[in-house]
Amino acid sequence: MEIPVEKWYKAIGKRRSCRRYFPQYLSQELVYHLWHVITGLNESRRSARIELLTESPDPVLKGIIGPFGKIKGARAYAAFIGATEDEHVAEETGYLGECFILEATANGLATCWVGGSFNAGAVAGLVKMAPGEKVLAIATVGFPHEKHPAGGHNRKPLEKLCTGLPREQWPSWAEGALEAARLAPSACNRQPWRFHVAENSITIYLNNPQKGKLLPRLDCGIAMLHLELGALSRGARGTWEYLDSPGVACYTVAD
Ligand SMILES: Cc1cc2nc3c(=O)[nH]c(=O)nc-3n(C[C@H](O)[C@H](O)[C@H](O)COP(=O)(O)O)c2cc1C
Repeated sequence: MEIPVEKWYKAIGKRRSCRRYFPQYLSQELVYHLWHVITGLNESRRSARIELLTESPDPVLKGIIGPFGKIKGARAYAAFIGATEDEHVAEETGYLGECFILEATANGLATCWVGGSFNAGAVAGLVKMAPGEKVLAIATVGFPHEKHPAGGHNRKPLEKLCTGLPREQWPSWAEGALEAARLAPSACNRQPWRFHVAENSITIYLNNPQKGKLLPRLDCGIAMLHLELGALSRGARGTWEYLDSPGVACYTVAD
Protein backbone atom coordinates (compact mmCIF):
# COMPACT_ATOMS: atom_id res chain seq x y z
CA MET A 1 0.00 0.00 0.00
CA GLU A 2 1.34 3.44 -0.94
CA ILE A 3 0.69 5.76 2.02
CA PRO A 4 -0.97 9.09 1.05
CA VAL A 5 1.60 10.99 3.11
CA GLU A 6 0.45 14.57 2.66
CA LYS A 7 -3.24 13.83 3.25
CA TRP A 8 -2.77 11.69 6.37
CA TYR A 9 0.03 13.83 7.81
CA LYS A 10 -2.29 16.87 7.65
CA ALA A 11 -5.07 14.83 9.27
CA ILE A 12 -2.86 14.14 12.33
CA GLY A 13 -3.19 17.79 13.42
CA LYS A 14 -6.95 17.87 12.80
CA ARG A 15 -7.92 14.58 14.48
CA ARG A 16 -9.41 14.70 17.98
CA SER A 17 -11.62 12.15 19.68
CA CYS A 18 -15.29 13.04 19.27
CA ARG A 19 -17.96 11.73 21.64
CA ARG A 20 -21.04 13.70 20.50
CA TYR A 21 -22.24 13.22 16.93
CA PHE A 22 -25.14 14.53 14.86
CA PRO A 23 -27.40 11.48 14.49
CA GLN A 24 -26.88 11.52 10.73
CA TYR A 25 -26.04 8.56 8.47
CA LEU A 26 -23.00 8.70 6.18
CA SER A 27 -23.83 9.36 2.52
CA GLN A 28 -23.62 6.42 0.09
CA GLU A 29 -20.72 8.19 -1.58
CA LEU A 30 -18.74 8.39 1.65
CA VAL A 31 -19.53 4.79 2.55
CA TYR A 32 -18.33 3.57 -0.88
CA HIS A 33 -15.18 5.64 -0.55
CA LEU A 34 -14.43 4.22 2.92
CA TRP A 35 -15.16 0.66 1.75
CA HIS A 36 -12.77 1.15 -1.15
CA VAL A 37 -10.03 2.44 1.17
CA ILE A 38 -10.67 -0.38 3.66
CA THR A 39 -10.31 -2.98 0.90
CA GLY A 40 -6.83 -1.63 0.11
CA LEU A 41 -5.90 -1.41 3.79
CA ASN A 42 -7.05 -4.95 4.49
CA GLU A 43 -4.81 -6.27 1.73
CA SER A 44 -1.81 -4.44 3.20
CA ARG A 45 -1.47 -6.07 6.65
CA ARG A 46 -1.17 -9.70 7.56
CA SER A 47 -2.89 -9.96 10.92
CA ALA A 48 -5.33 -7.07 11.16
CA ARG A 49 -8.37 -6.03 9.19
CA ILE A 50 -11.23 -3.54 9.31
CA GLU A 51 -15.00 -3.90 8.90
CA LEU A 52 -17.21 -0.84 8.48
CA LEU A 53 -20.68 -1.06 10.06
CA THR A 54 -23.15 1.55 8.84
CA GLU A 55 -25.39 1.40 11.89
CA SER A 56 -25.45 2.94 15.36
CA PRO A 57 -22.75 1.63 17.71
CA ASP A 58 -25.02 2.26 20.74
CA PRO A 59 -25.95 -1.43 21.23
CA VAL A 60 -22.28 -2.45 21.47
CA LEU A 61 -21.04 0.45 23.63
CA LYS A 62 -20.86 -0.26 27.34
CA GLY A 63 -22.28 2.36 29.79
CA ILE A 64 -20.25 5.38 30.80
CA ILE A 65 -16.87 5.26 29.17
CA GLY A 66 -13.96 6.49 31.27
CA PRO A 67 -13.79 10.13 32.31
CA PHE A 68 -15.26 11.31 29.03
CA GLY A 69 -18.89 10.12 29.31
CA LYS A 70 -20.88 8.03 26.90
CA ILE A 71 -20.42 8.38 23.16
CA LYS A 72 -23.69 9.56 21.63
CA GLY A 73 -25.29 9.93 18.23
CA ALA A 74 -22.86 8.08 15.93
CA ARG A 75 -24.49 6.22 13.04
CA ALA A 76 -21.46 4.21 11.91
CA TYR A 77 -18.40 2.53 13.36
CA ALA A 78 -15.39 0.54 12.31
CA ALA A 79 -14.43 -2.76 13.89
CA PHE A 80 -10.68 -3.44 14.13
CA ILE A 81 -10.16 -7.19 14.02
CA GLY A 82 -6.92 -9.04 14.74
CA ALA A 83 -5.69 -12.58 14.18
CA THR A 84 -4.61 -13.38 17.72
CA GLU A 85 -1.97 -15.99 16.84
CA ASP A 86 0.31 -13.18 15.56
CA GLU A 87 2.47 -11.87 18.43
CA HIS A 88 2.35 -8.37 16.91
CA VAL A 89 -1.40 -8.33 16.35
CA ALA A 90 -1.95 -5.34 18.68
CA GLU A 91 0.63 -3.14 16.92
CA GLU A 92 -0.67 -4.22 13.49
CA THR A 93 -4.25 -3.40 14.52
CA GLY A 94 -3.28 0.00 15.94
CA TYR A 95 -1.34 0.90 12.78
CA LEU A 96 -4.09 -0.24 10.41
CA GLY A 97 -6.90 1.27 12.48
CA GLU A 98 -5.17 4.65 12.51
CA CYS A 99 -4.82 4.52 8.70
CA PHE A 100 -8.62 4.32 8.61
CA ILE A 101 -9.03 7.06 11.25
CA LEU A 102 -6.77 9.50 9.36
CA GLU A 103 -8.55 8.77 6.07
CA ALA A 104 -11.92 9.41 7.77
CA THR A 105 -10.54 12.64 9.29
CA ALA A 106 -9.27 13.77 5.88
CA ASN A 107 -12.83 13.28 4.60
CA GLY A 108 -14.30 15.61 7.24
CA LEU A 109 -15.47 12.87 9.60
CA ALA A 110 -14.98 12.73 13.35
CA THR A 111 -13.97 9.54 15.15
CA CYS A 112 -13.22 8.06 18.54
CA TRP A 113 -11.20 4.93 19.23
CA VAL A 114 -12.92 2.69 21.79
CA GLY A 115 -10.63 0.10 23.34
CA GLY A 116 -12.18 -1.46 26.42
CA SER A 117 -15.71 -0.23 26.91
CA PHE A 118 -17.48 -2.11 24.16
CA ASN A 119 -18.95 -5.57 23.77
CA ALA A 120 -16.46 -7.38 21.51
CA GLY A 121 -18.64 -10.50 21.39
CA ALA A 122 -21.64 -8.50 20.16
CA VAL A 123 -19.54 -6.87 17.39
CA ALA A 124 -18.14 -10.28 16.41
CA GLY A 125 -21.74 -11.48 16.00
CA LEU A 126 -22.38 -8.78 13.38
CA VAL A 127 -19.44 -9.49 11.05
CA LYS A 128 -17.84 -12.57 9.54
CA MET A 129 -15.06 -13.79 11.83
CA ALA A 130 -12.37 -16.34 10.98
CA PRO A 131 -11.10 -18.80 13.62
CA GLY A 132 -8.60 -17.12 15.96
CA GLU A 133 -9.82 -13.61 15.16
CA LYS A 134 -10.90 -11.12 17.84
CA VAL A 135 -12.38 -7.63 17.70
CA LEU A 136 -9.65 -5.68 19.49
CA ALA A 137 -11.16 -2.20 19.26
CA ILE A 138 -13.77 -0.18 17.44
CA ALA A 139 -13.97 3.46 16.35
CA THR A 140 -17.15 5.48 16.22
CA VAL A 141 -17.47 7.53 13.03
CA GLY A 142 -19.72 10.46 12.14
CA PHE A 143 -20.30 14.17 11.98
CA PRO A 144 -19.10 16.09 15.06
CA HIS A 145 -21.68 17.71 17.35
CA GLU A 146 -19.00 19.22 19.61
CA LYS A 147 -16.06 21.56 19.29
CA HIS A 148 -12.47 20.57 20.07
CA PRO A 149 -11.55 21.53 23.62
CA ALA A 150 -9.49 24.74 23.66
CA GLY A 151 -5.72 24.38 23.76
CA GLY A 152 -3.44 21.79 22.22
CA HIS A 153 -3.53 18.02 22.21
CA ASN A 154 -2.56 17.70 25.89
CA ARG A 155 0.50 15.50 25.39
CA LYS A 156 3.79 15.01 27.22
CA PRO A 157 6.65 17.15 25.83
CA LEU A 158 9.30 15.40 23.73
CA GLU A 159 11.93 15.98 26.46
CA LYS A 160 9.99 13.59 28.70
CA LEU A 161 9.54 10.97 25.97
CA CYS A 162 12.96 10.69 24.34
CA THR A 163 16.26 9.04 25.21
CA GLY A 164 19.38 8.47 23.11
CA LEU A 165 21.13 11.22 21.17
CA PRO A 166 20.92 14.76 22.55
CA ARG A 167 18.39 16.82 20.60
CA GLU A 168 21.00 18.90 18.74
CA GLN A 169 22.41 15.68 17.25
CA TRP A 170 19.09 14.22 16.07
CA PRO A 171 18.89 13.42 12.36
CA SER A 172 17.07 16.19 10.46
CA TRP A 173 13.86 14.13 10.05
CA ALA A 174 13.58 13.04 13.69
CA GLU A 175 11.92 16.10 15.21
CA GLY A 176 9.01 16.02 12.72
CA ALA A 177 8.63 12.27 13.11
CA LEU A 178 8.57 12.50 16.90
CA GLU A 179 6.18 15.47 16.94
CA ALA A 180 3.75 13.45 14.81
CA ALA A 181 4.15 10.37 17.04
CA ARG A 182 3.58 12.47 20.17
CA LEU A 183 0.14 13.50 18.84
CA ALA A 184 -1.04 9.91 18.47
CA PRO A 185 -4.20 9.06 20.42
CA SER A 186 -3.93 6.47 23.20
CA ALA A 187 -6.37 4.81 25.59
CA CYS A 188 -7.03 7.23 28.49
CA ASN A 189 -4.36 9.46 26.90
CA ARG A 190 -1.73 7.34 28.71
CA GLN A 191 0.92 7.84 26.00
CA PRO A 192 2.62 4.55 26.87
CA TRP A 193 5.38 5.09 24.29
CA ARG A 194 8.95 6.24 24.74
CA PHE A 195 11.40 6.93 21.90
CA HIS A 196 15.11 6.18 21.63
CA VAL A 197 16.76 8.35 18.99
CA ALA A 198 19.91 7.13 17.22
CA GLU A 199 21.85 8.32 14.17
CA ASN A 200 19.54 6.82 11.55
CA SER A 201 16.74 5.23 13.58
CA ILE A 202 14.06 5.75 16.20
CA THR A 203 13.02 2.91 18.49
CA ILE A 204 9.59 2.90 20.13
CA TYR A 205 9.49 1.13 23.48
CA LEU A 206 6.95 0.75 26.27
CA ASN A 207 7.11 3.05 29.25
CA ASN A 208 5.69 0.39 31.57
CA PRO A 209 5.77 -3.06 29.92
CA GLN A 210 4.13 -4.68 32.97
CA LYS A 211 0.92 -2.66 32.65
CA GLY A 212 -1.49 -4.62 30.45
CA LYS A 213 -0.35 -6.14 27.21
CA LEU A 214 -2.77 -5.37 24.49
CA LEU A 215 -3.90 -1.75 24.59
CA PRO A 216 -0.47 -0.14 25.21
CA ARG A 217 0.91 -2.10 22.24
CA LEU A 218 -2.10 -1.12 20.13
CA ASP A 219 -1.44 2.53 21.12
CA CYS A 220 2.18 2.06 20.00
CA GLY A 221 0.98 0.73 16.64
CA ILE A 222 -0.91 4.02 16.23
CA ALA A 223 2.25 5.96 17.15
CA MET A 224 4.20 3.91 14.57
CA LEU A 225 2.00 5.20 11.76
CA HIS A 226 2.27 8.79 13.03
CA LEU A 227 6.04 8.52 13.32
CA GLU A 228 6.34 7.08 9.82
CA LEU A 229 4.13 9.84 8.38
CA GLY A 230 6.24 12.52 10.12
CA ALA A 231 9.42 10.95 8.74
CA LEU A 232 8.03 10.48 5.21
CA SER A 233 6.80 14.07 5.15
CA ARG A 234 10.49 14.99 5.52
CA GLY A 235 11.59 12.56 2.84
CA ALA A 236 12.94 9.97 5.31
CA ARG A 237 11.76 6.61 3.96
CA GLY A 238 12.50 3.79 6.35
CA THR A 239 11.59 0.26 7.34
CA TRP A 240 10.05 -1.13 10.52
CA GLU A 241 11.38 -4.02 12.53
CA TYR A 242 9.42 -5.42 15.48
CA LEU A 243 11.31 -5.89 18.76
CA ASP A 244 10.94 -7.98 21.90
CA SER A 245 9.45 -6.36 25.04
CA PRO A 246 9.99 -3.73 26.37
CA GLY A 247 10.85 -2.76 22.79
CA VAL A 248 8.02 -2.35 20.29
CA ALA A 249 9.53 -1.51 16.91
CA CYS A 250 12.45 0.31 15.33
CA TYR A 251 12.18 2.63 12.28
CA THR A 252 15.45 2.74 10.35
CA VAL A 253 16.16 5.16 7.55
CA ALA A 254 18.67 4.10 4.90
CA ASP A 255 21.40 6.68 4.20
C1 LIG B 1 -6.86 2.23 21.86
C2 LIG B 1 -7.71 3.38 22.33
C3 LIG B 1 -8.82 3.15 23.11
C4 LIG B 1 -9.63 4.21 23.52
N1 LIG B 1 -10.77 3.95 24.25
C5 LIG B 1 -11.61 4.97 24.56
C6 LIG B 1 -12.85 4.70 25.22
O1 LIG B 1 -13.17 3.55 25.54
N2 LIG B 1 -13.67 5.75 25.47
C7 LIG B 1 -13.36 7.04 25.12
O2 LIG B 1 -14.16 7.94 25.36
N3 LIG B 1 -12.18 7.33 24.50
C8 LIG B 1 -11.32 6.32 24.22
N4 LIG B 1 -10.14 6.58 23.54
C9 LIG B 1 -9.79 7.97 23.16
C10 LIG B 1 -8.71 8.55 24.09
O3 LIG B 1 -9.27 8.87 25.34
C11 LIG B 1 -8.12 9.78 23.41
O4 LIG B 1 -7.46 9.37 22.24
C12 LIG B 1 -7.11 10.51 24.29
O5 LIG B 1 -7.75 11.04 25.44
C13 LIG B 1 -6.42 11.64 23.53
O6 LIG B 1 -7.34 12.58 23.07
P1 LIG B 1 -7.50 12.89 21.50
O7 LIG B 1 -7.83 11.59 20.82
O8 LIG B 1 -8.63 13.88 21.42
O9 LIG B 1 -6.21 13.45 21.00
C14 LIG B 1 -9.29 5.54 23.15
C15 LIG B 1 -8.14 5.77 22.39
C16 LIG B 1 -7.36 4.71 21.97
C17 LIG B 1 -6.18 4.98 21.10
